[in-house]
Amino acid sequence: MTIKDIFMLVVTWLHAISAVTWVGGSIFYLLVLRPFSSDYENRDSTAGLNLASTFQNIVNTCIITLIATGVVLATDRLTEDGVGSPYVITLGFKAILSIWMFIQVESQRRQSRALETMQTKDPAKRLSIFTKTIQSLSGYNAIVIVGIIVLFLSDILDLLFEKSLGNG
Ligand code: HEM
Repeated sequence: MTIKDIFMLVVTWLHAISAVTWVGGSIFYLLVLRPFSSDYENRDSTAGLNLASTFQNIVNTCIITLIATGVVLATDRLTEDGVGSPYVITLGFKAILSIWMFIQVESQRRQSRALETMQTKDPAKRLSIFTKTIQSLSGYNAIVIVGIIVLFLSDILDLLFEKSLGNG
């Protein structure tokens, strides 16, 4: 095993960990936390605030790691002999969906900040911070669905790459 093999192993591992943490964490919010949110509406809001900021930090770390390691992986695969156009097209599609997900995360945050400002101006419309946290996560539905598709495309890429190695 060469130094390059070990490096690529670590890069692939970091990429996969970030992917499952982000998509898995978002699925947890949608399927476990959100259905039970109404039970918590009148609770102390500190829990909701801590929850949102911890999740945001995790997502930020995952996105930075996915981009950095994704670029390294893509460069490695595309410089390999025998990689055909189905691989390149699938990778291009995956990259476009990934960029859409990254942009969506930022736009969800902006929307939730705008909602918060509106409610500060009109206290009558004020919701508990926990409810706001849960509302801001509702846009994650689309991100999670696209995330699951991106995971599937990653498996297709793996298969196409294995095949190209077999042909080479
Ligand atoms: C900048 C965006 C991204 C690029 C350029 C990128 C690129 C790549 C490449 C080239 C591979 C190797 C595929 C192969 O086996 O030939 C890969 C694997 C993978 N990607 Fe990405 N990716 C990106 C974003 C994402 C995102 C957002 C997710 C998850 C939501 C994700 C999940 C995965 C997974 C699970 C693998 C398989 C890792 C393994 O083999 O263990 N990627 N990616």
